[in-house]
Amino acid sequence: MKLAIAGKGGVGKSTICAGLTLWLAEQGREPYAVDADPDNTLGYALGWPQEVLAQIKPLSELRELLAERAGREPGSGGMFSLAPEVTDLIADYTLTREGIRLLVMGTVVEGGAGCLCPENATLKAILRELVDVESDLLVDMVAGLEHLGRGTVAAMSGLVAVTDATAPALRSVGRIKALADDLKLQPVVAVANRVRSKGDIEVIERALDPLPVVGAVGYHEGLPAEGVFSGPVGAEFRREIEAVGLVLDGLA
Ligand SMILES: Nc1ncnc2c1ncn2[C@@H]1O[C@H](COP(=O)(O)OP(=O)(O)OP(=O)(O)O)[C@@H](O)[C@H]1O
Ligand SMILES: [Mg+2]
Repeated sequence: MKLAIAGKGGVGKSTICAGLTLWLAEQGREPYAVDADPDNTLGYALGWPQEVLAQIKPLSELRELLAERAGREPGSGGMFSLAPEVTDLIADYTLTREGIRLLVMGTVVEGGAGCLCPENATLKAILRELVDVESDLLVDMVAGLEHLGRGTVAAMSGLVAVTDATAPALRSVGRIKALADDLKLQPVVAVANRVRSKGDIEVIERALDPLPVVGAVGYHEGLPAEGVFSGPVGAEFRREIEAVGLVLDGLA
């Protein structure tokens, strides 16, 4: 699977992304997990120790390096390479542990979402390169889908919109679907999270119709934010993630 994971803030993107990554790693599939959030949330959710994560510098902070790759000054517009060579950057900045390859990209926000700055071009080139690798790839997106260029999207197996039953989260899925449609990224499917009742699933399905809701994860009181599979609550969560993973595996 090569999936982008999106959704409203706090809805559980990193939790679901970490769960799917851990599940893939259990099967020896050596997934790539890409964190588009510069705060290492995904790394913590995977259960990686603080001292390991403290060494990580999000690529987006290395603006000079990214701009240099694209052949321009940081923050400048104008002509630069849209296909910078990034294979060695991926090798240098990927942290491997317990069969998981974590790359913290972060987001270049300056200049707006669709900013054609050289830093974004390099981040996009990194994702484009990663989708061509054989391995599974899960990308924990932040707000929008700005790292996804057309070249990347063609090789993705889909986009997972995570949502709960609240109106803002459901509205966010609509916006994400529209962005995905613009990029011709498909299929777009939803995963329900923090589900407390059958009624929640019905609310979500009705609000998102005709978008398929391919799985549901319950509300787990005390779910560990660091190491989402750990402890008894983590084990329950793991069982639900496995069911979601099997469906997502069948997408493409
Ligand atoms: N199914 C669940 N049951 C209980 N708590 C959950 C569940 N899913 C996520 N959480 C908790 O909700 C909080 C937000 O989750 P998470 O960080 O995964 O969201 P996010 O969408 O990645 O947020 P952000 O937009 O800030 O990146 C965390 O404390 C997490 O442990
Ligand atoms: Mg997150």
